[in-house]
Amino acid sequence: MTAAPLTTRPPVKIGVLISGEGTNLQAIIDAVARGELKADIRVVISNKAAARGLERARKHGIPAEVIDHRRFTSRDDFDHALVASLHTHQVELVICAGFMRLLTPVTVAAFRDRIMNIHPALCPSFPGVDAQKQALDYGVRFSGCTVFFVTEGIDDGPVIVQAVVPVHQDDDAGTLAARIQTEEHRIYPFAIRLYQEGRLEVRGRKVHILDAPPTDAIAADVNPRLP
Ligand code: GRF
Repeated sequence: MTAAPLTTRPPVKIGVLISGEGTNLQAIIDAVARGELKADIRVVISNKAAARGLERARKHGIPAEVIDHRRFTSRDDFDHALVASLHTHQVELVICAGFMRLLTPVTVAAFRDRIMNIHPALCPSFPGVDAQKQALDYGVRFSGCTVFFVTEGIDDGPVIVQAVVPVHQDDDAGTLAARIQTEEHRIYPFAIRLYQEGRLEVRGRKVHILDAPPTDAIAADVNPRLP
C-alpha cells in the first residue's frame, strides 16, 4: 500500500508514557521512520526503570526518563512531576502506551483533549486490567482495541479509532493479546496522524473525524483502511 502524502503541517510534538515493553512506542517510532507519521518524539517517560521501552527510545536517540511513582507521597505529586517534564520537553500531545498508572486531574487538566491512550478491548467493554481475559471469560466472539482521549474516568474517554479482531475458541489471554496488538500497532500511529493533520474534533463525548472516508469504505472493511 502506498502511503498517502503527509500534510505540510509541522510534526506533532509528542511525549510517550510507558511502563513496560514498549511495542506501541516502537510502532510509532517505525511509522515516523517510514514517513507515515509526522511526529517529533520529544521524550519517553517511564514510571519503571526496568521498562524495555526505555532502551527502544535510547536506541533511536530519543530522550528517555524515569519518574518513579514510588518516590512521591501522593498521586497528584507524581502527576505534577510528569507535567513538569512534559512541559520542559515542549510536548503538545501525550501518548500513553502501556502506562500502568491512572493519570490524575492534574495531568488531564493540563492536557485536556491532548492525551491519548490505547485499551486492548472495544470500549466501553472490559475496562481496566486484564481486558483480554475479561473478553475470554465473557465469551465474546469479537474483541479489539480502542484509541481514545483520556478523561478522569477509566478507559471511558471519547473514542478516536477502534479495530476489531475475532476471538478464537482455543484462544488464551496471550494469543488474543497478540492478535489485538497487531491491530494496536496499526491504529495508534494512525490516530496520532489524524491529530497531526488537525482532523480530530472533540464534540462532547464524541470525536468527529474531519474528511473521514465515506461510510461505505469503512463498512466494507470493518477496520479502518489506513491512508
Ligand atoms: C497494550 O496491550 C495496550 O493496549 C495496553 O498495554 C499494552 C502495552 O504494550 N494499554 P506495549 O508496552 O506497548 O508493548
